[in-house]
Amino acid sequence: KYKLILDLDTGIDDALAIAYALADQDCELIGIIGSYGNVVVEQGVRNSLDLLSLLGAADVPVYQGLPCASTKKNFVVEPISAQIHGKNGVANLTLPHAPRQVAEQDGVDFLITAIHKYQHNLLFVPTGPLTNLAAAIKKDPEIVQLIGGVTFMGGALSVPGNVTPAAEANLHQDPAAANEVLRSKLPLTMVGLDVTTRTLLTKKETQTWRSLGTSAGSIYADLVDYYIDAYQVTSSHLAGCALHDPLAVAAALEPSLLQTFFLNMKVETVPPFEGRTIGDEKRINEPATTTQVALNVDKKRFVNKFMNRLTTLFAD
Ligand code: BDR
Ligand code: CA
Repeated sequence: KYKLILDLDTGIDDALAIAYALADQDCELIGIIGSYGNVVVEQGVRNSLDLLSLLGAADVPVYQGLPCASTKKNFVVEPISAQIHGKNGVANLTLPHAPRQVAEQDGVDFLITAIHKYQHNLLFVPTGPLTNLAAAIKKDPEIVQLIGGVTFMGGALSVPGNVTPAAEANLHQDPAAANEVLRSKLPLTMVGLDVTTRTLLTKKETQTWRSLGTSAGSIYADLVDYYIDAYQVTSSHLAGCALHDPLAVAAALEPSLLQTFFLNMKVETVPPFEGRTIGDEKRINEPATTTQVALNVDKKRFVNKFMNRLTTLFAD
């Protein structure tokens, strides 16, 4: 059985990623690391704790990661994030409060310890900025060879970005960290806007959850309805909301959902294109063996699976 660690800036699609991971029978979610992005790190941690309890997984520990990019002094939530996820990351709802607290160990140290312990059995899925992962490889470069795989949500190769024409939100938060990660020899799969904006959810699906009559079903329906309404304003060309973060989890567990290409990638770190994911011209003659970029997704198979799993989970 695979061990799974998520690294989340817990907003609404991160909340869907938690649910997808918990519904999987073949992997064990051994921890969540909190990041900043959709919300400040403390709020992300709180959201993860509350959502885990709501889903009957109050035993999964949550660790706090770094509060901002190493190149910046602090982090302030962008207005666009608050618009899409709500000011508190969870549609401005008050979730049932989980009585427990964040774990004592620091998120970066937890990641390093877990990689040494589980090695190739460990899958890591970051769906926020890559700050914690970059810090972990800096602190302990050995983990690059040990880890089973890293499947991250971020970047955009064949389509424009979503926070600037060049950049996707997660990588735009910390372009230097993302560049460290993409230029490392980690076994990486990039699940970017190229594929995540093809996997959409509508209010027809959230109605299914609402009609279950459970608290998880109605809270998740409220969360996603808010997210769908925001998408109608910010991305009206899409017929629903994008399932960014749960797609990364699904792809980590079942790579055949994606069609990928091996490419040597880098991330631009200076304006005006900071955060852009693009081929690394310095490695153009080197065979690409570790980084795969997803350019197509079996969207029907994924969305069906997503709905079956989450509906079953919320029905309990
Ligand atoms: C990514 O940015 C965040 O707002 C979402 O949670 C997702 O991880 C999409 O660009
Ligand atoms: Ca996210």
